[in-house]
Amino acid sequence: MSTPLVEAVNVKKYFKTPRGLLHAVEDVNFKIFEGKTLGVVGESGCGKSTLGRTILRLHEATSGQVLYNGENILEYKKREMHKVQRNMQMIFQDPYSSLDPRMSVRALIMEPLEVVGTGEKLSKAEKREKADRIMELCGLPSNHANLYPHELDGGLRQRVGLARAMILEPKFLVCDEPVSALDVSIQAQILNLLMDLQDNKGLSYMFITHDLAVVKHISDQIMVMYMGQVIELATSDELFKSPLHPYTRALLNAIPTIDLSRRNREKVTLKGEVTSPINPEPGCRFAKRCPFASEKCKQDPVLKEVAPGHFATCTMGAK
Ligand SMILES: Nc1ncnc2c1ncn2[C@@H]1O[C@H](COP(=O)(O)OP(=O)(O)O)[C@@H](O)[C@H]1O
Ligand SMILES: [Mg+2]
Repeated sequence: MSTPLVEAVNVKKYFKTPRGLLHAVEDVNFKIFEGKTLGVVGESGCGKSTLGRTILRLHEATSGQVLYNGENILEYKKREMHKVQRNMQMIFQDPYSSLDPRMSVRALIMEPLEVVGTGEKLSKAEKREKADRIMELCGLPSNHANLYPHELDGGLRQRVGLARAMILEPKFLVCDEPVSALDVSIQAQILNLLMDLQDNKGLSYMFITHDLAVVKHISDQIMVMYMGQVIELATSDELFKSPLHPYTRALLNAIPTIDLSRRNREKVTLKGEVTSPINPEPGCRFAKRCPFASEKCKQDPVLKEVAPGHFATCTMGAK
């Protein structure tokens, strides 16, 4: 078995708050291999962005390891970290806020070459050339090079955000809700672009979204989070075919579907919403909203391999 490109081992991220310790990410484990995509799904506030940021060291982990090519980057000093930084990039839901409104599209795409660099010495002209190549790669028409962010629609802005990451020739991208703010037709275009880039460049993705329907086709594996805990992890096909955890079932039920095979399944619907896990009690954090909750849910959930490659903390949602 080859080494995963990115691996998380018991990654925790807690935040100190005036009301106590907020357990945003609790003992998360995963492996992402070269050219593969891990989808990370769960409702708003469940810790997806915090996990993505912690993997890239935009937050310092509370404990655990993040291995890149088998090396724990959480132990890296500044200089070593700088070397791997360009390999691990992030794109966001709304790139607008990170795009300097006074810079043209081309200048924005060249900027990471100045700030992070790729290790190669490039002249100004070579940087421009490179930016133009990356624009083409990301589906940005060349006559857009001199436009400014406010002149672009959401889809084009997301392409600029992606181009700014791609110019560093990364190996791994954390995509944090990259299509959530876009119209459905534009969503598909950006998802297709991401999949094409993956095929051409062998990129690996962590693809974060609150919308399970969005990750179905792009993900090899899907990880479902609830209040900082991973409650289910399986291949995309397996998760959609036989969800085990009641929470996963509820998320799937929320997707509008004309799939007749699913129509007769007993429905699990979600009541209430995610609250902040501050000083959480032991046990399953979903129990308060779960139609199957019982005494045994007061024990801490353990992610078990229930079928080959299919992990879940609970199987009460299985049909
Ligand atoms: N910098 C921070 N300081 C304190 N709490 C935070 C911080 N960032 C996120 N949180 C809290 O951590 C939890 C997870 O947030 P987040 O990772 O943004 O969730 P998601 O991306 O799934 O919507 C939330 O309860 C949020 O309020
Ligand atoms: Mg988020």
